[in-house]
Amino acid sequence: MEKRQELYRGKAKTVYATDDPHRLVMHYRDDVSAFDGVKLAQLAQKGETNNKINAYVMGKLVAAGVPTHLVSVLNERESLVRKMRMLPVECVVRNICAGSMAKRYGIEEGTRLSEPIFEFFLKSDALHDPLVNEDHIRVLGWGSAAEIGEMKALTHKVNAVLKPLFAAAGIDLVDYKLEFGHPTDDPNGPLMLGDEFTPDGCRLWDAKTGEKMDKDRFRRDLGSVIEHYREVARRIGAPL
Ligand code: TMP
Ligand code: ASP
Repeated sequence: MEKRQELYRGKAKTVYATDDPHRLVMHYRDDVSAFDGVKLAQLAQKGETNNKINAYVMGKLVAAGVPTHLVSVLNERESLVRKMRMLPVECVVRNICAGSMAKRYGIEEGTRLSEPIFEFFLKSDALHDPLVNEDHIRVLGWGSAAEIGEMKALTHKVNAVLKPLFAAAGIDLVDYKLEFGHPTDDPNGPLMLGDEFTPDGCRLWDAKTGEKMDKDRFRRDLGSVIEHYREVARRIGAPL
């Protein structure tokens, strides 16, 4: 496999073409952003830490029957992934009320939910990722009814795998965001999990103390961001 030109620079990752039209290199940078790219910084070791956490978590998901775009880890900061046509929506599952849901409905952060709550958001920094419903997605053409069903089923399946995985590490999986797409070499096949699963896109609280171990440490200026990401990796058994 040969790495070729840069295709896309996101807020924390850069994507490169390869000599295979159906494979991309995902490069995890040390950049961190919050509030739709308004707050930016660099954190040493973030790229390699997230590349390794992502690979470990995606490996657990594949083993549990959730298809993902990850092909292999190439080096400290890079992974080979399948090229995908991504749906422009973000799938969020919440086990504990926090963040935008707490604000939107005036519910105290930390309120435990009797069952997981699923939410869709439109992926658009310019519009601040607005909450959308299934009719918006279907009628406005962001996804079909079948894709909506698949995204919900897969996102709940991820919860069934990851909630106990983090619980065994003494961590509450509060909420997380997933993105799905179709691999370009199987455009009409089932959806696959794309993007990443790292502490950048979820909330993780120490089950005993409630201490935040995710990107809220950066959003809320709590300090020791990467130290906490690495503690998450250590506790779940992801090799660093
Ligand atoms: P929220 O409380 O801001 O809606 O976020 C819910 C979860 O989804 C939280 O773990 C952060 C994650 N998320 C992202 O990673 N990127 C996003 O653009 C959004 C809207 C949420
Ligand atoms: N992922 C978005 C950003 O980086 C939103 C957030 O995490 O606050 O800007």
